[in-house]
Amino acid sequence: MFTRPLAVSWSCLLLSAIAQAKYVVPGGRWRDTDGNLVNAHAGNIVLNNGTFYLFGEYKTEGQEEGGGISVYSSPDLSTWHSHGHALKPIEGHPYISPQMIIQRPKVVYSEAARQYHMWWHADNSKYGLLLQGFATSDTIAGPYSFVNATPPLGNWSQDFGLFTDYKDGRSYALYSNGDSKDGRDVYLTAYNEEVSALEDVVHRFDKYDLEAPTILQTEKSYYALMSHKTGYRPNNVVAFRADKLTGPWSQPWIVAPLNTRTFNSQSGFTLTIKGTKKTTYLYIGDQWDSNSLWESRYIWLPINIDDEKKKLSLEWYDVYDLDVKSGEWFPVKGKTYLGKDATTQGNAFKQEAIQMQNFASGGAILTGIYGNDSTITFHGIEGTGKPQWVSFYYQNTDDMGFGDQPGGSPDRIGGAWQLRRISSVIVNGNTSNVETLYQRDTHKGIILSTPLQLTLKEGQNNTITVGGLFDGVDYKGADLDRIVVYPPEA
Ligand SMILES: *[C@@H]1O[C@H](CO)[C@@H](O)[C@H](O)[C@H]1NC(C)=O
Ligand SMILES: *[C@@H]1O[C@H](CO)[C@@H](O)[C@H](O)[C@H]1NC(C)=O
Ligand SMILES: *[C@@H]1O[C@H](CO)[C@@H](O)[C@H](O)[C@H]1NC(C)=O
Ligand SMILES: *[C@@H]1O[C@H](CO)[C@@H](O)[C@H](O)[C@H]1NC(C)=O
Ligand SMILES: *[C@@H]1O[C@H](CO)[C@@H](O)[C@H](O)[C@H]1NC(C)=O
Repeated sequence: MFTRPLAVSWSCLLLSAIAQAKYVVPGGRWRDTDGNLVNAHAGNIVLNNGTFYLFGEYKTEGQEEGGGISVYSSPDLSTWHSHGHALKPIEGHPYISPQMIIQRPKVVYSEAARQYHMWWHADNSKYGLLLQGFATSDTIAGPYSFVNATPPLGNWSQDFGLFTDYKDGRSYALYSNGDSKDGRDVYLTAYNEEVSALEDVVHRFDKYDLEAPTILQTEKSYYALMSHKTGYRPNNVVAFRADKLTGPWSQPWIVAPLNTRTFNSQSGFTLTIKGTKKTTYLYIGDQWDSNSLWESRYIWLPINIDDEKKKLSLEWYDVYDLDVKSGEWFPVKGKTYLGKDATTQGNAFKQEAIQMQNFASGGAILTGIYGNDSTITFHGIEGTGKPQWVSFYYQNTDDMGFGDQPGGSPDRIGGAWQLRRISSVIVNGNTSNVETLYQRDTHKGIILSTPLQLTLKEGQNNTITVGGLFDGVDYKGADLDRIVVYPPEA
């Protein structure tokens, strides 16, 4: 269905997109081809005969640990087909029962064994075992059969990563060794040829007390990315660089803009896409949600690398168009609607020119959004009648304290983790279709975005109203800066 004026304006935007490419939308609710949330956290991606396989921790409401390992396949890193469990928990099993920790799975093809090998952090619920689990399968999607759970070279292992050097095909395990005073290191240890046991410690990142490690390899460099240890709260992910895996490794540096806490994500994996035109490196991060781990999202972003200057950094894109064949990607252009042009209802108000609102677009931010009567409305929004991604740019000043909960104050010691506010989003005043918008803690003056997929009417007369969620109690929404509406996929 087309209306002339619209077809013209959206196709202009679409010209900047490439035909074969697919949208990747960091932080969105990703759904598989059955319509379920993509449920594969802190895992890895393996390219197998032209198809990408995503492995990860499977979490459901009320069963956030010990859910086993799920597997999905995709031709484009955007469309995901579920293959169910690659490793199913087994009732009563000493290492993979539903009561045990099965975290950070990584799958690698063992040429020597002609099998797929899966490794993970195997533990009990108190993190008292600190082992590495091992399972094998003849087919990539499994089911994998449990082999053992062992201490690496007799030592401890917590957050687990796995890296294969493309130059010589050798694989390495990367693992933090726990929180005890004798631990707090990250190990880089070479596997045997079969990738069935560890052989030699190649390097130890001594006493940095980091976790969630991954290594990315360019022609000239190795970059190791890791996060600090703040549980399921995000922090500033750091990178180290080296010419050789044995080091020397550089000092760590922070990879994303300061105070964004790596755009509210944790490291875990990096994917190299060697395309026909370009090699692209993706940061494969987790946006954990400790309020409901099963709803945790994914922050996948192209990584900026300047190998001459030995630099690596992350930049934010709401939506980008990725062609896994050519390796090319482009940011998708959207239409911006500023908060300063929105209308306010109830106690919500536009704050401008009081003080330096220069962090906000157009010098104005919308604040006081609360419950369903103190709302703000954007007008004159152009839509296509098809589902479109809309990014909501906001500031959430809770800083991981209690935030708007009684008795709380921001950034305080002992403060409970709030981690997010929730707003309601209503299109064209239709209150029987309320979308929930999660707005994770930012910092004062830091504006980040969360995307929602919405269906707007064709034409230029849509409204989007944002309130605090009303869910038995009223919630305070975050302060809104602007929204950006993206064209549907070609
Ligand atoms: C690889 O993929 C091609 C095309 O999809 C298929 O015909 C072929 O059987 C696959 N090979 C293996 C070893 O799975
Ligand atoms: C175990 O790890 C600790 C901490 O890194 C280290 O001091 C110790 O030497 C390791 N022990 C063995 C046997 O590798
Ligand atoms: C709005 O909130 C009030 C309570 O504050 C509630 O009674 C009412 O049902 C809500 N209306 C909608 C449309 O959610
Ligand atoms: C309002 O939303 C409901 C639920 O999605 C839908 O069934 C209904 O058609 C919508 N009403 C209008 C006027 O679009
Ligand atoms: C836009 O929508 C409003 C409210 O739904 C309506 O009153 C108005 O006539 C519409 N304008 C156009 C140009 O369609």
